[in-house]
Amino acid sequence: MFKTILAVTLLTASFAALLNPLAASAEEVKKADPESIFARVGGQAAIDATVDLFYTKVLADDRVNYLFEDINMNAQIRKQKEFIGAALGGPVAWEGRDMRRAHRDLDLTEEHFGAIAGHLAASLKELKVDDKLIGEIMAVVASTKDDVLNKPKAAGAE
Ligand code: HEM
Repeated sequence: MFKTILAVTLLTASFAALLNPLAASAEEVKKADPESIFARVGGQAAIDATVDLFYTKVLADDRVNYLFEDINMNAQIRKQKEFIGAALGGPVAWEGRDMRRAHRDLDLTEEHFGAIAGHLAASLKELKVDDKLIGEIMAVVASTKDDVLNKPKAAGAE
């Protein structure tokens, strides 16, 4: 599935480059570091497919879906794709709310976090991302936990 998405994206990008050489050079400047998790997982197309699958799982899970009842899911899905792209080393910076602020009023617990992280790992697995890379991605996700759960910051941390 990734390969098809990637092929379509690459084809579209090459046609766009043929039609518009300026767009092509701008694209060049914004290329992701080939060593980044972002590049190794298959770029934004792979992340988009993962996040789409992830939210079908989240919305089917009664442990967490009630939290999204009043949320505009199209916007949420778009933001999550942007956030994860940036967090994995993609070329576009995250300009939305920081994780502490975004989750501050939700009263989230370790169980909520575990459910969400589990759906993300399961989505990556289902899309055939290799286990080592899934481990690297889940370490980045885990690094957001204290902020998402609004845990008090350690003394001395800004
Ligand atoms: C696992 C790490 C997580 C990441 C990386 C993450 C990422 C994000 C992002 C990027 C946003 C949008 C922020 C914005 O509006 O600018 C967001 C909002 C939200 N997240 Fe998370 N999230 C995580 C965990 C969770 C968990 C555990 C829950 C609940 C089970 C949750 C529920 C929500 C909800 C309900 C919103 C919408 C808040 C609003 O618009 O008022 N998130 N999250």
